[in-house]
Amino acid sequence: MDTVKTESGFYSLTPKDGASLSLPRVSGTLGADAIDIRKLFGGDDLVTFDPGFGNTAACESRITFIDGDKGILLHRGYPIEALSEKATFPEVAYLLLNGELPTAAELTAFDDTLKHHTMLHEQIRNFFNGFRRDAHPMAMLCGTVGALSAFYHDSLNMTKQEHRDLAALRLIAKMPTIAAWAFSYSQGFPFVYPDNRLGFAENFMHMMFALPSEPNYKVNPVFAKAMDRILILHADHEQNASTSTVRIAGSTGANPFACIAAGIAALWGPAHGGANEAVLKMLGEIGDKSQVPEFIRKVKNKEDGVKLMGFGHRVYKNFDPRAKIMQRTCQEVLGELGIRHEPQLELAMELERIALEDDYFVERKLYPNVDFYSGIILKAMGIPTSMFTVLFAVARTVGWVSQWKEMIEQPGQRISRPRQIYTGAAQRAFVPIGERG
Ligand code: ACO
Repeated sequence: MDTVKTESGFYSLTPKDGASLSLPRVSGTLGADAIDIRKLFGGDDLVTFDPGFGNTAACESRITFIDGDKGILLHRGYPIEALSEKATFPEVAYLLLNGELPTAAELTAFDDTLKHHTMLHEQIRNFFNGFRRDAHPMAMLCGTVGALSAFYHDSLNMTKQEHRDLAALRLIAKMPTIAAWAFSYSQGFPFVYPDNRLGFAENFMHMMFALPSEPNYKVNPVFAKAMDRILILHADHEQNASTSTVRIAGSTGANPFACIAAGIAALWGPAHGGANEAVLKMLGEIGDKSQVPEFIRKVKNKEDGVKLMGFGHRVYKNFDPRAKIMQRTCQEVLGELGIRHEPQLELAMELERIALEDDYFVERKLYPNVDFYSGIILKAMGIPTSMFTVLFAVARTVGWVSQWKEMIEQPGQRISRPRQIYTGAAQRAFVPIGERG
């Protein structure tokens, strides 16, 4: 094939025999078709260029579908609205992992298996002691999950289905224990072991807030229900930055616990899962409703890189459906707690109202994302901001392991290895140190 750079700077592609060029089109069940470019460029002379992967489908997946223009999110075909309303987090976890909703018997068996794996190796307790008391819980989560690879490595054979399944279940089951212990350690509280009589979300909150001195402590059922829903809303979101990180790390055949630690690191950033923490910080800095116009002015002028955190999304160019459910959940939780006046919720709603009417946000199709309201609920439940992204990671572990398994089980799976446009110095002669000016 001849490739010719035209005057306008575009390449015109002309097959050598002069016949018209036809590239395979790949269609999924829903969503945009893709052009399969795998056979287009065999050598080093031409590659495709898509920084930030904004227009690149890196894999085929059957797990999650997003229609960003319409604001639709489906897990295995089921709308997020129905799942968050009618299912529990373990049910959604089963669905994401296995492709179908469980029967009652399958759910009980799945729940029992998860409970069987909630404990951590006792040596992990000692591992926590290596962290400074003021360590960020995300740093502890990332380090401790990575450390689990040392406990489950030689015994893991990634070519065996049952070993992959076991690694996935262990990760889902142990993540709340690690997350709760990171919280306890940072607060100076004793570690609380899992209580397998409790449901997933309730057990997680029990490990965070129970104290040996208060044996009658019971998790508020309103909080447990809200936590379950928050976990569902964060469970998976197709090929986002952290999931892609997990897939890329996993494509090398790396230990799955190490791959999930890589995903946790990617999630931590304020442009991704760290946004929920950043939203509350932003609300705190704005202070009250009277300051909203001035804050919006700064955002629009891009002063000091100020952004409206919790707004905007790479894929959603409409309301993030999770944000709507989160806002409702927030009002429900506050209502059930008898909180009639929550200044930060009112501030957030005022920001949303103004932003949705403002040309800057309208033209750029910037809408609230899942993180805009989640922090307000978590704060009302007594969870400190530094734990927000940790909770996100607990939930997203289900998506990460489902996507990791799907990737590794796909026939013809290869290592992920993007190309680049090199813009550095051309080859040059080495100059000895004494001769450098
Ligand atoms: N506030 C102000 N302006 C914004 C925002 C925002 N939150 N988000 C995007 N923009 C502007 C950009 O500055 C850019 O403006 P320009 O056209 O004048 O240059 C335009 O909108 C397009 O934005 P991009 O940065 O190109 O969008 P991208 O898809 O790369 O980024 C992202 C998406 C990272 C989510 C971005 O919207 C953002 O930083 N939002 C705030 C952080 C946040 O809430 N992250 C959570 C995402 S959801 C999640 O991970 C759970």
